[in-house]
Amino acid sequence: MPDRAPARPPAAKRPARGRTGQALPQPPVPSQDELRPLAVAVAEGYRRGRRDLPWRKVRDPYAIWVSEIMLQQTRVATVIPYWQRWMQRFPSVAALAAAPLDDVLAAWSGLGFYGRARNLHRGAREVMASWAGELPSSAAELRQVPGIGPYTAGAISSIAHGERAALVDGNVARVFARVFALDADIKASATGRVLWEHAHALMQALPASYAAGELNEGLMELGATVCSVSDPRCLSCPVAAAAQCRAAAQGLQSTLPVSRAGKPVAELPVLHLQAVWAMRGQQVVLARRRPEGLFGGLWELPSAASLPAAAAVVGARVEGTAAVAHHDQILSHRRLRIDVWSASAPATLGKPQDPSYDAVRYVSLEELSDLAISAATAALLAKYKDAPWTSIQKPSRSSPKGTQRSSKGSASSATTSPTPTSPRPRRARPRASTSSSTTRTR
Ligand code: ADE
Repeated sequence: MPDRAPARPPAAKRPARGRTGQALPQPPVPSQDELRPLAVAVAEGYRRGRRDLPWRKVRDPYAIWVSEIMLQQTRVATVIPYWQRWMQRFPSVAALAAAPLDDVLAAWSGLGFYGRARNLHRGAREVMASWAGELPSSAAELRQVPGIGPYTAGAISSIAHGERAALVDGNVARVFARVFALDADIKASATGRVLWEHAHALMQALPASYAAGELNEGLMELGATVCSVSDPRCLSCPVAAAAQCRAAAQGLQSTLPVSRAGKPVAELPVLHLQAVWAMRGQQVVLARRRPEGLFGGLWELPSAASLPAAAAVVGARVEGTAAVAHHDQILSHRRLRIDVWSASAPATLGKPQDPSYDAVRYVSLEELSDLAISAATAALLAKYKDAPWTSIQKPSRSSPKGTQRSSKGSASSATTSPTPTSPRPRRARPRASTSSSTTRTR
């Protein structure tokens, strides 16, 4: 997964553009003398108000790397227990590199956006192979590790090593848009370059008595706790209090930043898959995606573009003439729709008959929480656990029409593996078809 947007460091060429795409003249980057009071206000605010977070008690670059990757697209409160468990399970780069991908993805299960876990794992293996197991210290060298982009490199080198390296993530971009009253579209790549120029200049202006990490974490802390998207709390903001925020001074905090709306959900292309649901007692057949590619390394109901192809993955025989369940989900650039068909599979499964998968097996419902399961399959399994469907067929009732982009919270909760269920007898249900909740994941 790419590093956090806007991730492009400066190589300014084209002017930043506004909501309608027109070029906007942006105020020049202020001088160091002008920036110093802002840098001091941010670092002082951090000293006074920093949250007591577990990764702030350590200076281990690996631990900070893990925290920064987990914090991408995920709230602090969610990350804390995952980070703590992760550091016990994989306490070093070497431990992470030595672990099988299955274990790494299982430890990530519930955080969503599994590409981050795959990249961490790949990065750890590269650090073992090319850096003798020790993460390099400078931002420039960190960038050479797979999965470490400009944001993460700046975070690790400044927090763990005190390098005067800048960073910009989504929160910092919003803070800068307000503090500097930048009214170009913050999602545009040209604006990304402008934001990075401001970040570099601000870091240069930071007096030597402050650590680089205090400025960077101070900016992130402001974005996370005060300078929020819809309800900036300017009255408690140390930057506004020091008269260093142009938006607050001009009453623009609610209109900035300018951000071009994403593509409406209805316009996203649909990836329509057929999946088979083959149970034996309380065990269901799952297939594991090859590590590379979409959903790599995750276990899911065997699926393919056509039903015969999905059944062929495990040599299953489809039962019935209508799907028993449906799942709709918003991916980054696509809508995913899965129709689930009841099927019977051989008691002994061979190799998967589809190159997208590298393993197939029966998994008992109790075992599911130990596996890294795709968000779609997790949602379907949770739904089944809640209200088991039978092979009694009814026409489908759901359609992707009602699909909504869901919040961060629901995206991560939908990726949580269901808790183990005790075996219970199947019962006939009035509804044979179900549509699982929509989630947005990558
Ligand atoms: N978000 C991502 N990294 C962070 C950090 N180090 N401090 C606060 N919020 C963050």
